[in-house]
Amino acid sequence: MTKLSDTRKVRAYTNIALIKYWGKRDDKLILPTSSSLSLTLDAFYTETAVSFDESLEKDTFYLDDNLQDEAATLKVSRFLNLFREQADLKAPALIKSTNYVPTAAGLASSASGMAALAGAANLASGLNFTPQELSIFARQGSGSASRSVYGGFVEWQKGTSSADSYAVKIDNADWDIGMVVVVVNKNQKELSSREGMKQTVATSPFYAGWIESTAVDLVNIKKAIGQRDFEQVGEITESNGMKIHGTMLGANPPISYWEPDSVLAMQLVRKLRKQGIPCYFTMDAGPNVKVLCRLSDSKEIKTAFLNYFSEEQLIVSGPGSDLKEITF
Ligand code: DP6
Repeated sequence: MTKLSDTRKVRAYTNIALIKYWGKRDDKLILPTSSSLSLTLDAFYTETAVSFDESLEKDTFYLDDNLQDEAATLKVSRFLNLFREQADLKAPALIKSTNYVPTAAGLASSASGMAALAGAANLASGLNFTPQELSIFARQGSGSASRSVYGGFVEWQKGTSSADSYAVKIDNADWDIGMVVVVVNKNQKELSSREGMKQTVATSPFYAGWIESTAVDLVNIKKAIGQRDFEQVGEITESNGMKIHGTMLGANPPISYWEPDSVLAMQLVRKLRKQGIPCYFTMDAGPNVKVLCRLSDSKEIKTAFLNYFSEEQLIVSGPGSDLKEITF
């Protein structure tokens, strides 16, 4: 058991899927219907410290220095129970978590949050899980968190059971890879990924086509990453993102996360590409647009976007690294 004085802090970076995860075959264990692949970003991360302390009455969770309510604490408690069970621990926990997201980005992410929590719980419980085991735990907090255990390009293999549904690193992405995040709207999304994917799996007639086609995209993008063929990586990314949003549109009721400025950002990307800058867009369960590009082109891309978006709406990021302990 740890005391407050020897609390250790873990940092995990968020990730953006290039091949999307959108659907579960097991809601409780969070097993996906398909494998996915992402790029970890260094501009957005979460730092978390956990200490198990018998003198506490109950789990106590601070996020960005604010004591969290019962509902938010319950989510964290349930997740920590996975570690308490393994370590045969009964003590309540003090959890302190900080999201490092550029001001007004509205991109606080469950991926970095749950991965950092898994890493911090691992240290506090003394369980010493391997990164692969941590990925399995992080997955049970939020699917995309399984990928935030690693930096660079990361694949979450859907596996056949909980024991083999984890992320693996594909490549460090240290070959001039970057992303420009266009913050279209920083407000909380109206429909969570969790609900959105459930609704899509249950009702979209396009879902079977998505499953078939995303498997092909995954094979091809891994090949393109291996060959360092950036254009090919970008084309597959853009196509895969559009296909999942098409699949969502087919849901009943239809799901659309797009806003007019999302479309504007996509048009700008196409225009820049025509001008010879290789860049490609992708979108998740919200209106923000992420532009995959050469890190060395990111300044020029940002300048072009500044004609339509403000400085604080445009965040440039390079590839992030593996989850790590931070000494303070
Ligand atoms: C569109 O990982 O947030 O970002 O597993 O229900 O917590 P839960 O969902 P979450 O979904 C992420 C969906 C996505 C695509 C992706 O990251 O692969």
